[in-house]
Amino acid sequence: MDKIRIRGGRPLKGTIPIGGAKNAALPLMAASLLTDETLTLVNIPHLADISTLANLLATLGVEIALDGHAPNGGHAGRALALSAKNITSTTAAYDLVRKMRASILVLGPLVAREGQARVSLPGGCAIGARPVDLHLKGLEQLGAKIELKEGYVEAAAPGGLVGARIVFPFISVGATENLMMAATLAKGRTVLVNAAREPEVGDLARCLVAMGATITGIDTDTLTIEGGAKLHAARHTILPDRIELGTYVMATAATGGDVELVGGRLDLIQAAADILGQAGVSFAPTERGFRVSRTNAALTGVDVMTEPYPGFPTDLQAQMMALLASAEGASMVTETIFENRFMHVPELRRMGANINLHGGSAMVRGVPNLTGAQVMATDLRASVSLVIAGLAARGETTVARVYHLDRGYERLEEKLSACGADIERLKEGA
Ligand code: EPZ
Repeated sequence: MDKIRIRGGRPLKGTIPIGGAKNAALPLMAASLLTDETLTLVNIPHLADISTLANLLATLGVEIALDGHAPNGGHAGRALALSAKNITSTTAAYDLVRKMRASILVLGPLVAREGQARVSLPGGCAIGARPVDLHLKGLEQLGAKIELKEGYVEAAAPGGLVGARIVFPFISVGATENLMMAATLAKGRTVLVNAAREPEVGDLARCLVAMGATITGIDTDTLTIEGGAKLHAARHTILPDRIELGTYVMATAATGGDVELVGGRLDLIQAAADILGQAGVSFAPTERGFRVSRTNAALTGVDVMTEPYPGFPTDLQAQMMALLASAEGASMVTETIFENRFMHVPELRRMGANINLHGGSAMVRGVPNLTGAQVMATDLRASVSLVIAGLAARGETTVARVYHLDRGYERLEEKLSACGADIERLKEGA
């Protein structure tokens, strides 16, 4: 398996282009199942997770074509055209679903359009049990009959789905997306209360509106969907990836660098930017995005708690911890979204970090310098936090299991080395 080798201690300086959001692209691709016309998604990132979902959609009969080029080394012009003219299967098989939990997002659109769907139940994963009960309960409220058989969710609504008022007991990004998509084809009005407000949910809603759906309350916690209209072709530009953006912000801050993030929108990571500002990181808008820098003193420890949007995102928690590991003073990092999202802690400790776990919180006592080590992680964001730690550390770090990084970071080594990082991918056997 490939590894990444980093020789740390070089400040990042230069420009990094930000791609389209993975976690917007995935539900948007699933939305193509709602219409027999072509949905074109512009600014599609080139990532393993996107290929995984494309492969799954292809098994359902969706025709997929990739077009367009990358201006200035970015990929803003790249477009994915998805045409679900003929859905040839309503079964999402275990072999594909087990690779990526977001595959469950085909369930709502399939049952809404075809009146039936059979989707493998995703298993647990490295960051927690991650059940899908809210997705299933919501579909039942829309009139689907749900059964669990041989590891599969079987959903049936032969007469079509019917709108309902669904109150989520807690916030779920995926359940909001799945049910919003299903509701566009359900008869009558659906109201989703306590809906997720993540920018990716808003992006999906805007695309559904472009496809002919009627949705109000976009970007709020109450979404009202007037269902039943036939959806049609649309062309939608995917919003920038706020987690990729936040990751490069933290890498820049950790190395004491100065980088312009092209295509980056500070408003998408406001909660993180506010906390980073308290820690000593500076931001300045530019014509193409914004600049982040930390050129003066060491960072100061700060307390962070993950929350649903607009709070501090769980998907930036590991990266933030890597940064705080060498800040001055203590920081308390509290994870409230997933029960097991601290796999990076033992690996950061191997690099000299002083971190103690107390339930859902980590007490990080900053050390003057991290030191390079051989490390690995079992999920995407934990892996990239080790890359950040390696960039800031003295000496050499190798990060194993690079396939996790390829799920969510496009051309990571290229983007970092263009800013002066000493980073390279070692091919298997090297
Ligand atoms: C999305 O996952 C993201 N994935 C995750 O990003 C992100 O960490 C997460 O939202 C939270 O922001 C995609 O968008 C593809 P949830 P999702 O449903 O939708 C529990 C990354 O690194 N829950 O909001 O699966 C769940 O276990 C990934 O890019 C239930 O109990 O997250 C969790 O504790 C990782 N029952 C909490 O809710 C349900 O039916 C929030 O999960 C659904 C969720």
